[in-house]
Amino acid sequence: MKVTVLGAAGGIGQALALLLKTQLPKGSALSLYDIAPVTPGVAADLSHIPTAVTIEGFAGTDATDALKEADIVLIAAGVARKPGMERDDLFNVNAGIVKNLVEQIAKTCPKALIGIITNPVNTTVPIAAEVLKKAGVYDKNKLFGITALDSLRACTFVAQLKEKKPEEINVSVIGGHSGATILPLLSQIPGLSFSEQEVIDLTKRIQNAGTEVVKAKAGGGSATLSMAQAAVRFALSLVRAFQGEKGIIECAYVDVDGNGEHTRFFAQPVLLGKEGICKREKIGKLSAFEQQALDNMLDELRGDISKGEKFVTTPNNRDK
Ligand SMILES: NC(=O)c1ccc[n+]([C@@H]2O[C@H](COP(=O)([O-])OP(=O)(O)OC[C@H]3O[C@@H](n4cnc5c(N)ncnc54)[C@H](O)[C@@H]3O)[C@@H](O)[C@H]2O)c1
Repeated sequence: MKVTVLGAAGGIGQALALLLKTQLPKGSALSLYDIAPVTPGVAADLSHIPTAVTIEGFAGTDATDALKEADIVLIAAGVARKPGMERDDLFNVNAGIVKNLVEQIAKTCPKALIGIITNPVNTTVPIAAEVLKKAGVYDKNKLFGITALDSLRACTFVAQLKEKKPEEINVSVIGGHSGATILPLLSQIPGLSFSEQEVIDLTKRIQNAGTEVVKAKAGGGSATLSMAQAAVRFALSLVRAFQGEKGIIECAYVDVDGNGEHTRFFAQPVLLGKEGICKREKIGKLSAFEQQALDNMLDELRGDISKGEKFVTTPNNRDK
């Protein structure tokens, strides 16, 4: 199977490429693409690691060679946040980049599973969906906004607070992937309970964890290493499901049109299979706090989604 990383020379892209080179199953192929000229060099560097994963790297304005016969494409191309910026501030640049790359995917590997890391994920995923629709190749079970970092952060912070092993904790995070649209379902963690204040504080910390990193990096970008870990975990789940393993459930920001409970796109647990999503799982019973937070986020999420849809359908943006 072949995995392609777009934006592979960036902070996330390089770390993700390293993790994939060392963790993909034997016999896999890894292909790297970025506009940065260093990309073939990144591939050459990684090629010296003795794993049975072949690797190639491409630079320039055309991703076709990297995308040929890809089964999974991970998009980490774009600009990252600086202090004072919200994820939404990235929209103008990153929207055009995602649109362009997904147009190339639609042409070269239209059946691939697509995982989008590029922010603002709430909006870049609807952009990708509209581009694929326009090209006549949209499959709503094969497009994912990668929100796994929210779950990773939630596990870490909960484990710290409750003095548990982080690897034994699993937290569903639903909604979207920015600010108030990030909703960790703390009430559903088996065997743990939280005071009202703990729920308020933990929820806030998980929602603002990206900003914590942006501030700490002081102008040097946003989360890259933890994001790469989140993305590799998600990508390996896609790979294992693709290879026939049953029962793999991950939270991701996906098209829930068929369910239509909340918004067209929504982050929630999905059961993975060979062709992407086999089943959108129920989000389960929410606490009163979680239900209120969900009700409060929906307008923002709808606005983010409609911004992405309009970006593709508005004539002025078509050639961006
Ligand atoms: N989903 C998440 O949880 C999450 C977390 C952190 C960051 N992000 C997002 O991931 C993206 C990448 O972050 P980063 O820190 O790696 O940034 P970075 O600036 O280090 O890397 C981005 C890379 O994209 C490349 N690029 C730009 N335009 C391109 C194009 N048209 N085609 C191919 N490559 C292109 C750049 O050359 C660069 O190498 C940002 O949008 C960031 O906001 C998402």
